[in-house]
Amino acid sequence: MDSVINRLRLVRNPARTKDIVVTRALGLILFCCLALIPAWTGAWAKTVTAKSPDKNITLTVSDRDGFLTYTVRFDDEVLVSPSRLGLLFKDHHGFDRDLKITQVKRTQADNTWEQPWGERQFVRDHHRELTLDVTSMAGPARMMRLRFRLFNDGIGFRYEVPDQDHFGAVDLIDERTQFVVPSAGTAWSIPTRGWNRYEYHYDTTPVGDLTSVHTPMTFRTPSGIHAAIHEAALVDYSAMSLKPVRPGVLKADLSPWSDGILVKTQTPFQTPWRTIQISRAATGLLNSDLILNLNEPNALGDVSWVETGKYAGIWWAMHVRDRSWGNDTIHGATTEETKRYMDFAAENDFIGVLVEGWNIGWDGDWFNNGDLFSFTKSYPDFDIETIADYGAQKNVRLIGHHETSGDVTNYENQLDDALTLYAENGVRAVKTGYVADGGGIERIDENGIRQYEWHDGQFMVDHHLKVVREAAKHKIAVNPHEPVKDTGLRRTYPNWVSREGARGSEYDAWAVPPNKPEHTAILPFTRMLSGPMDYTPGIFDLTPNERAPLRKDMLRNSVESRIQTTLAKQLALYVVIYSPIQMVADLPENYAKHADAFQFIKDVPADWSDSVAINGEVGDFVTFARKDRNSNHWYVGTLTDENARSISIPLDFLDSGKTYRAELYRDGPDAHWKTNPYAITIEDRMVTARDTLTLPLGASGGAAIRLVPVEAKPAVN
Ligand code: NOJ
Ligand code: CA
Repeated sequence: MDSVINRLRLVRNPARTKDIVVTRALGLILFCCLALIPAWTGAWAKTVTAKSPDKNITLTVSDRDGFLTYTVRFDDEVLVSPSRLGLLFKDHHGFDRDLKITQVKRTQADNTWEQPWGERQFVRDHHRELTLDVTSMAGPARMMRLRFRLFNDGIGFRYEVPDQDHFGAVDLIDERTQFVVPSAGTAWSIPTRGWNRYEYHYDTTPVGDLTSVHTPMTFRTPSGIHAAIHEAALVDYSAMSLKPVRPGVLKADLSPWSDGILVKTQTPFQTPWRTIQISRAATGLLNSDLILNLNEPNALGDVSWVETGKYAGIWWAMHVRDRSWGNDTIHGATTEETKRYMDFAAENDFIGVLVEGWNIGWDGDWFNNGDLFSFTKSYPDFDIETIADYGAQKNVRLIGHHETSGDVTNYENQLDDALTLYAENGVRAVKTGYVADGGGIERIDENGIRQYEWHDGQFMVDHHLKVVREAAKHKIAVNPHEPVKDTGLRRTYPNWVSREGARGSEYDAWAVPPNKPEHTAILPFTRMLSGPMDYTPGIFDLTPNERAPLRKDMLRNSVESRIQTTLAKQLALYVVIYSPIQMVADLPENYAKHADAFQFIKDVPADWSDSVAINGEVGDFVTFARKDRNSNHWYVGTLTDENARSISIPLDFLDSGKTYRAELYRDGPDAHWKTNPYAITIEDRMVTARDTLTLPLGASGGAAIRLVPVEAKPAVN
């Protein structure tokens, strides 16, 4: 360009001062014009590159043509093609075009932090960070910051909009984030904005055929890379779904408020992290701590009051229609029945008993009458103080229940009283519920007008965190059903112990169809990437709809209504589907019929010092090994979809040089969920880290194993 200006100077006569001035002015104008051209053509665009610590993942961010895009390569293959970034606001100029990267900062970290409970005690956070200041070159002066973190198992990025002129309160009307991924890949997903929230069977489709879906959304490229798109640290923002704008071009789609605004906030604000977990093997996704690493550290301080363990409940009896929640002749939540369950829990060393239906509001159409729920008044046949005393003697706690039926204003109005009552009666965990019969979550706004919100919009994101924070003040942990999806906030709020957020066991009691054989072979690779799930496993009567006496009008006496697992697979779920509180969901009398298999449930812990996904393919099978947090025992769970298969489990996770007694609970010969579900072989084998167990699994079968180190026998003289 200098030569262009020089040439311009040469054609003028330098002796004439006026000409010189004109020449210089022209030169300056031309210089400016030429300087602007690259911004439009992209020829001078800034391209910034960063790599994961192991260099397998490469991120490239560009402001070419004034549009901000990012690209992700894994193993030298493009996984995410150039994908747009940006934010739009209702009353302010947004960040979608005329953008320029004006500053680049790089940092890195490698540290290890400790979880109070979890899949593993110590978590390594090893990443490189790239922070880009992005300035708008048109309209009022404004800037935002994009922060990227690259781990060996994926990337996260978020937008940060600092305090500055021309902002303040902002209404977000679009997040332009795209994920352009190979449309020929295979995706596993559930639909978003459906009345049933996250409680759907997963669809297996080409990426190019995806409709609007929830995250985590997992996919495998034609070349065999596995990846999952999700988000971390969803705070004061709306949940992100993915909407295809063209095949393979997925765009952030935030759940709107009832008035259509996506997020109501003010500067300074930051979005949740948008995450892409990446691994060659499917199991790499299961061994990733990326979501937790992108969350803030524990904000609650001492959380030793958060209890992990197994719990029983007055619950399945209602779902199989033996009992009712409401105040009638088969009311489940009576003082006497609760004592019976507390006896059962005490005998087996379970931490508590969940009691649903003790409080007034369940009579009539409770799906639609959320405003009738009292969270402090009990039915006449339930005495909470008697129960608290009885539990204290038995060292078993009452586990609280707050079904809101989606009427959140009614719940929030009573929240403090409700938590106070529970805390006074020794309750350390509460299960909440947001069943809403299609209309959505109800709230009464500041003008007294009823509004309906999405279960994962900003209103509910804020509500759940409010409950978690309030509960923490009472030293109570929270386990929401019909929740907002998990984004790793258990790291910051360790009293957010579990949640539902997928089809759980309840579907096996009454749904047509019940959970399919492949369901729990998909969950670990999808829903479970977000965090613990209160799946409520351990159903031992696998044909609950084929017995008497049930309400005959509800009877679905068909093979299709059978629970589509073997007995051994029910045991495997305790290891495969992680939750620090695990329900022992069936009726005590059903466990008594299979006391030998029940022994595994008695033994298996719910808190781990380490976890390893050993093998698995999405939707086919999966095997986990986990080490007890409080002993040197290991546990293994493996399960398969509708196909019987042989599973090989190398035991190299065990301590070398030690011998272990492997207590196996595996599918027996000819086990099959439909024809022979109870066939179970329980046997001991002596093994070492050098052994590989090869186990035959029946159709929708599984195996559960406890591995106990044994002392070497003293030598005999
Ligand atoms: C749905 C929950 O998932 C289930 O566990 C509970 O029993 C019912 N709602 C009633 O609250
Ligand atoms: Ca549910």
